[in-house]
Amino acid sequence: MLVDFRPHARLCSPTTPVTIDESLGPVVGALGESGTDLSRVRVVCDWVQYKQNFREVVEVRPILSGDPDGPVPEGVRDDDLEVAVDVRRAAGVDLRARTREVLEGTAGVGDVFLEDWTPTRQSCLWGFNALYWSALELWEKATGQAYEQALPGGESDARNRGAARDVIGELFAVWDGLADRGALPPELYVVEIGVGNGAQARVFLDELRDMDARHGRGYYRRLHYLMCDYSQHVLDLARETVADHAEHVSAFVVDACRPRSVLAFLQFRVFLIYISNVYDNLPNDEVAQLGGRTYLVESRAYLPAAEAAEIAASVNARPDQLPGLVSTLLRLGPTLLAEARPDHVGSPDEAVAFWRRVWSAVRLAERYAGLAGLDLYELSPTVNGEALRPLLESGADVRMHVSNGAVASFTETIGLLHPFGKLVCHDLFARDVGAYRTGFRGPGKYDGSVVNWVNGPLLAHIGRRRGFDVSYAPFAHRTGTNIVTMTAQVRD
Ligand SMILES: C[S@@+](CC[C@H](N)C(=O)[O-])C[C@H]1O[C@@H](n2cnc3c(N)ncnc32)[C@H](O)[C@@H]1O
Repeated sequence: MLVDFRPHARLCSPTTPVTIDESLGPVVGALGESGTDLSRVRVVCDWVQYKQNFREVVEVRPILSGDPDGPVPEGVRDDDLEVAVDVRRAAGVDLRARTREVLEGTAGVGDVFLEDWTPTRQSCLWGFNALYWSALELWEKATGQAYEQALPGGESDARNRGAARDVIGELFAVWDGLADRGALPPELYVVEIGVGNGAQARVFLDELRDMDARHGRGYYRRLHYLMCDYSQHVLDLARETVADHAEHVSAFVVDACRPRSVLAFLQFRVFLIYISNVYDNLPNDEVAQLGGRTYLVESRAYLPAAEAAEIAASVNARPDQLPGLVSTLLRLGPTLLAEARPDHVGSPDEAVAFWRRVWSAVRLAERYAGLAGLDLYELSPTVNGEALRPLLESGADVRMHVSNGAVASFTETIGLLHPFGKLVCHDLFARDVGAYRTGFRGPGKYDGSVVNWVNGPLLAHIGRRRGFDVSYAPFAHRTGTNIVTMTAQVRD
């Protein structure tokens, strides 16, 4: 048996101690009693720091080795299943009984599946995520809480004036240099992707106008600030927030994963691409290198039996009707759900209550599907799975995020940059592969949306291949934050 205890630092933590005896002992005990072939089992322990998440305390994940006709690498370790434990929640649970139920399959009786197995980036959880942003107003009205309160620190770092001034100062230095050589274009483009309530745009525009007034070279007059988001509601909010700067701002409905479909006209013309807290919110697969083989994590969203029964009763439905209702909710949104299915939800408010209950209950079952070859895995439309090889083969077993949406967004947007332009992104990044071996990096739930840390070394590797320097630094304007600033610019 192989045991991977990732949050090992917690074993000596004075504030939140865990012990191997308590978090692992009962699991191994139950495995021993179950008749499972222990030579083909992995046990992984995580500390799932997100109070709202998609995990049960104990889960079993089948490991499917994939292509039966493919070559068998020398010395691989072929496991049949992985038992996963969230040690943060283990203390309050009879782990031995729970593991026994999970292994016998009795724990899952009556669970309601919302979809078939699929690579996680195609799971319906991304439908929930998109719905959250498109129907944000209804969700926030129901919870009485703004989305920013769920972000790290309870407020977006995008509002930070010091951070904005630093970025603008660097922009001015570039513009001064180009202007002195007569090479500054008449229009100065800045693109922001994923604008939320517009606070980031507002801070940037206010600061730029003030700094320009002192600097005296008329840059604000030439500025075009393009706000991009896939939610029309969010764009409307942001537009109100920056009403003072209306002449310099345009708003575009853009999918962050396919920005060129709208922004291609800006190729080589953008001086700054500004993104914060968006990459961690884009569709993401996970891959794993286990015992010498490569796997793609496949997921399947479901509602646990007890919650499914309660939710079904609350909308006058049987549990087996829930997948249909959820799919209609994700397709039409809560307001139209109330019109389409008045027999189940009598008003938009009831539809929002249904949505919130489902979201709170939804879990992801997982399994590992063998990948026949990294070259056969399409990481993004222009990046082949081979880009993962140096990271997957960087040492011991590892399971890590692919950050497919972030990679697609990043590769398309850097192509828009002016030769002296840069992309600046504040977000949750895993800065090295080791971060995936020692910590849980998502998915977690932030209110109604999904969060996954972004694979920093992968973006850096892909950027380098395209002639860009990609660097990471802790967010410089707030101490104790996990937020990291990524900067990408054409290599000198
Ligand atoms: C957490 S908010 C961040 C808002 C702001 N940048 C900040 O830091 O406060 C995420 C934003 O990304 C947008 N977003 C998420 N997925 C997107 C996608 N695929 N395409 C475009 N926008 C997306 C959401 O609508 C939302 O405005």
